[in-house]
Amino acid sequence: MWDIINDLVKELEGFQAKTQAEVEAFRVRMLGRKGILTGLFEDFRNVDPRQKKELGKKLNLLKNQVQQAIDVQKERLAAKTPTQSPADDLTKPAEILNMGSRHPIAIAQREILDIFRKMGFSVEEGPEIEDDWHVFSALNFPPDHPARDMQDTFFINSQTDNPVLLRTHTSSVQVRTMEKQKPPIRVVCPGRVFRNEAISARAHCIFHQVEGLYIDENVSFADLKQAILVFVHEMFGSSARIRLRPSYFPFTEPSAEVDVNCNICGGTGCNICKNTGWLEIMGAGMVDPNVLKASGIDPEKYTGFAFGMGVERIAMLKWQVRDLRLYFENDVRFLEQFQGGLL
Ligand code: DAH
Repeated sequence: MWDIINDLVKELEGFQAKTQAEVEAFRVRMLGRKGILTGLFEDFRNVDPRQKKELGKKLNLLKNQVQQAIDVQKERLAAKTPTQSPADDLTKPAEILNMGSRHPIAIAQREILDIFRKMGFSVEEGPEIEDDWHVFSALNFPPDHPARDMQDTFFINSQTDNPVLLRTHTSSVQVRTMEKQKPPIRVVCPGRVFRNEAISARAHCIFHQVEGLYIDENVSFADLKQAILVFVHEMFGSSARIRLRPSYFPFTEPSAEVDVNCNICGGTGCNICKNTGWLEIMGAGMVDPNVLKASGIDPEKYTGFAFGMGVERIAMLKWQVRDLRLYFENDVRFLEQFQGGLL
């Protein structure tokens, strides 16, 4: 019996399988029902009791070594053979890499900024978490204005003299720009804004705006109108039309709301334009002297215009998207329809 054991130890030392099938054959030959080791364990019962202790130890050790050798070989071979080698079939077409694309809101925002860049505007950004001064007070909002109500604004800390809140418009970046730059100022300010509103096809509590501000000597309402017209023609094509309606904002005087003809229904009336054939895309006006003063600019010397537009609205019109919520659901079937490139 010792001879068989010694031979096995030697065989084990040199054991190198080339395939998994060889490993399996080895296992069956050693540990199978009729395997060599199984046989040795059977013979062990009839061994002289004086030899049992030493032989038993040796047999158990051998069994462990055999099992270990099988495991090692199995693992080695598995690591060596990838489940599917690329060399298997060289005629196979390459796998399609899904590159993804820009989000439609990002595409629209870039286009808006590019148009104004061409008109000499530069881009400014500001914080989403703002204070009352930059969102309301410096923009000439009276202390009891409804926008300062919890119903409309998400407050983070309202217990201080200058409450901390999520900005409700990017007009706050006008103020920040005027605080740090001297006229002439020509900036566009993109960003996310937050309002405590019920979500529907036309409204969301998070959306995007681009604010514009132009301050210099002798800036007039005609300049504002022309800048908007150029923008709309670049964005929607030269047949697009605009209409200005008198309006009110605390930070502009006079103020207007700007509509563009609804190209979702072609002017015949739909639920997006509320059957008017027109869609409001921005608020605008001449910067109120109080706003210039609050930011340290002399209203006797300088005038300016400002506007603020909703990026979702622009994108809706551009691609005839009927429900604003689609922009936030990020369903790939929706997103992959917009080819804005990745650069
Ligand atoms: N901040 C306004 C809003 O969120 C939009 C706006 C209106 C911006 C008139 C302006 C402006 O700069 O002059 O509804």
